Amino acid sequence: MERKNDSVLPSDFLWGGAVAAHQLEGGWDQDNKGLSVADIMTAGANGKAREITDGIVKGKYYPNHEAIDFYHRYKEDIKLFAEMGFKCFRTSIAWTRIFPNGDEEQPNESGLKFYDQLFDECHKYGIEPVITLSHFEMPYHLVKAYGGWRNRKLIDFFVRFAKTVFKRYKDKVSYWMTFNEINNQTAIADWALFTNSGIIPRSDENAEKVMYQAGHYETVASALAVQIGHQINPDFKIGAMIAMVPIYPASSDPRDVFKAERAMQSRYWFSDIQAKGKYPDWLVSYQKNKAFDLDITLEDLDVLKAGTVDYIGLSYYMSFTVKAKKDEPKSYKYEERKELISNPSLPTTDWGWQIDPIGLRYALNWFSDHYDLPLFIVENGLGAYDKVENNQQIHDPYRIAYLKAHIQAMIDAVQEDGVKVIGYTPWGCIDLVSAGTGQMSKRYGFIYVDKDDQGKGSLKRLKKDSFFWYQQVIKSNGSQLD
Ligand code: BG6
Repeated sequence: MERKNDSVLPSDFLWGGAVAAHQLEGGWDQDNKGLSVADIMTAGANGKAREITDGIVKGKYYPNHEAIDFYHRYKEDIKLFAEMGFKCFRTSIAWTRIFPNGDEEQPNESGLKFYDQLFDECHKYGIEPVITLSHFEMPYHLVKAYGGWRNRKLIDFFVRFAKTVFKRYKDKVSYWMTFNEINNQTAIADWALFTNSGIIPRSDENAEKVMYQAGHYETVASALAVQIGHQINPDFKIGAMIAMVPIYPASSDPRDVFKAERAMQSRYWFSDIQAKGKYPDWLVSYQKNKAFDLDITLEDLDVLKAGTVDYIGLSYYMSFTVKAKKDEPKSYKYEERKELISNPSLPTTDWGWQIDPIGLRYALNWFSDHYDLPLFIVENGLGAYDKVENNQQIHDPYRIAYLKAHIQAMIDAVQEDGVKVIGYTPWGCIDLVSAGTGQMSKRYGFIYVDKDDQGKGSLKRLKKDSFFWYQQVIKSNGSQLD
């Protein structure tokens, strides 16, 4: 039966798609661009981590160097987005195109020009750019010379970058986000700490403490950027960007329930600060009990208070489930890498991500209850293997089924629960390099790009079945999902 959702979403709802500069642009050393942390990560595989090399090592393959060559083909790609009916397009500004090393006084004009042209091209079709300032692509020089976000000096470098692009694009961009998935690093996994903060914990330091310190500097930098952005253009909407993964208790055992609560607190303290302007009580207490002795000044706390965000941008792919240990410490400390268990009621993708559309409705309600701010789903999607038929068609019903179920969950949250959602931009609207594995074969797009995991292919673009399906969804403002 055809399902209809009549006029549920506002007429200015921001349908679109999302990408990040390093995952699609390529042109890694063009027009004075500097080396970013993404440029020194090799390709991994499904289940095999990417290698982080110290600079470029000859003979190794770095998939982000060329990516899908959007740097030279953006006009063709934006035209395809317009054909789908996009109202907005989320991408990031590569920090290293604007400040190649990160610590220069003056920006790189050719980098600024590229984004002028890109945003103009979007506006030509009435597509609103939605921009992330830092999306896993900080300058590698800031890692080498300053130790990444361990160092307070990074706040100034980031703020200079933010100020430069806010001023330059004040009439071309209204929607901004400061740090992509800033809360990923709570897992204290090397990959997340490196891509978010340019940090690989040394054996002589406490990785958890380092994460809290870097996270603190980033929330201060984010709050300063929010304040400065609003001074430059009071109409700017500046958001947080949070990787939302709801964490469920494995059972109704109160210990599991409290474990899940502590896990949620641990993953979402970043947005607590960015939305409410202050540290949550549990974390003040936790950091004190741990005697971390962090560099958090009274002035910083004032900055956090004054720089709260206008909306919450969120990615949503899956949910997690957690079980309390037999001998939980009093703190119920959450260790994401060790404590997750699989949820028997959920199917998984080929990469082991648990598919859970209701989790999206839960997540939207959770954010709405906690922060009472508009929500923007800036990533959602299914990474899957696609096959090109002899006639050049790509049939991807699995992707359509995933997106349909999640859009329906979003609509239920709006219609039944009154949650305010301002837009929806599925991840990787055109196939691009996977952030986690460096693969091309983990495809999210409505548009297929002919390139394989070894970097071979014509880079030709092809429309998948989902292209036409999404076109219909946008045209009907979400009322036609079948
Ligand atoms: C989010 C990131 O973590 O998920 C994106 O913001 C990333 O950069 C996306 O690409 C999907 O993850 P992956 O590992 O499948 O590319």
